[in-house]
Amino acid sequence: MVRIGVLGCGRIGRMHAANIAAHPEARLAMVYDVDAGAAAEVGAAFGAEVAGSAEAVFASGAVDAVLVATATPTHADYIEMAVAAGKPVLCEKPIDLSLARVEACARAIAGKGVPVQLGFNRRFDPGHRAAREAVARGEIGDLHQVVITSRDPGMPPRSYYEVAGGLFRDMTIHDFDLARFMLGDEPVEVVAMGGRLIDPGLMEELGDHDTAMILLRTADGKQCHINNSRTAVYGYDQRVECLGTKGMVQSQNRRAHEMVRSTATATGIAEPALFFFIERYAEAFRAEIDAFLRVVRDGGEPEVGFEDGRRALVLAEAAYLSLAEGRVVKVSEVG
Ligand SMILES: NC(=O)c1ccc[n+]([C@@H]2O[C@H](COP(=O)([O-])OP(=O)(O)OC[C@H]3O[C@@H](n4cnc5c(N)ncnc54)[C@H](O)[C@@H]3O)[C@@H](O)[C@H]2O)c1
Repeated sequence: MVRIGVLGCGRIGRMHAANIAAHPEARLAMVYDVDAGAAAEVGAAFGAEVAGSAEAVFASGAVDAVLVATATPTHADYIEMAVAAGKPVLCEKPIDLSLARVEACARAIAGKGVPVQLGFNRRFDPGHRAAREAVARGEIGDLHQVVITSRDPGMPPRSYYEVAGGLFRDMTIHDFDLARFMLGDEPVEVVAMGGRLIDPGLMEELGDHDTAMILLRTADGKQCHINNSRTAVYGYDQRVECLGTKGMVQSQNRRAHEMVRSTATATGIAEPALFFFIERYAEAFRAEIDAFLRVVRDGGEPEVGFEDGRRALVLAEAAYLSLAEGRVVKVSEVG
């Protein structure tokens, strides 16, 4: 049994805690949150010890590895503390909103040999992964284009935007990682268009965007298009399409069930897409815990690690530069 300490008992921390507690090869040993009530609730729900501080989790002999699901500005500090304590860490995205802080963290943990896995759960989605594997096996010939559609079901509250760090660093960061995964290659050029179509007043006031289209290109010319919206009324819209010389693969939306209704006025009426990330990516979140447990037990590099988190943030910064200057940006201009 791998004994795991979870830091952060909010929206996603609770879900991870539940997945760890239900896992046959893991035990939720300890939880911590600055909100003592949230930690007490999760600790009681899953029979885990409630730590009095983050330091207590990292120092505990009863914890083999940690999962960080706290607010974004704490991630880099907690990664450094976990690595210093020799505890493998699975940290939610993004590593930090500042590339300089991410690079300082990279220097602090370099050469310590402690695995750091990043919470890019979409790589573990069965459909997305099957699409990537089909591409890698050459089933669609030479890959030319990847299209990633990633739309949230609805706008989060204002308080969310105030700390999220902007659409590209908070939301598109998943798609930048997925683009690298699906392309099997590094984008070298980025061009981005951002929009304020859903709540123009709020987005203008906060300097954020609720709508975006981004194009990426690899050195050998493969193209990727990412489209984001903070509101898709039909549910969490998560689709990936890859086009190659011998065909196409698509990873589709998931629904509660696959019953399709046809009537006198319409055909093919299906359930809405599953509501949001916890439902849509349930299997992916469980599979990322499986992958983390393998790394903790057997060692080796995580399937998706710190450098993937850094590279996704570099693409986000390149997209912001493109937006600011209205031009195609070379990724090498940013980092
Ligand atoms: N992989 C995904 O799809 C996904 C989805 C949602 C959120 N996230 C990421 O997970 C993180 C948490 O998001 P959330 O939606 O659960 O937020 P949340 O606000 O619901 O929860 C964050 C929790 O962290 C706690 N916290 C804040 N500072 C802390 C500290 N210094 N030490 C311990 N606890 C602290 C808060 O009290 C809160 O309970 C964010 O970084 C977010 O980007 C990832």
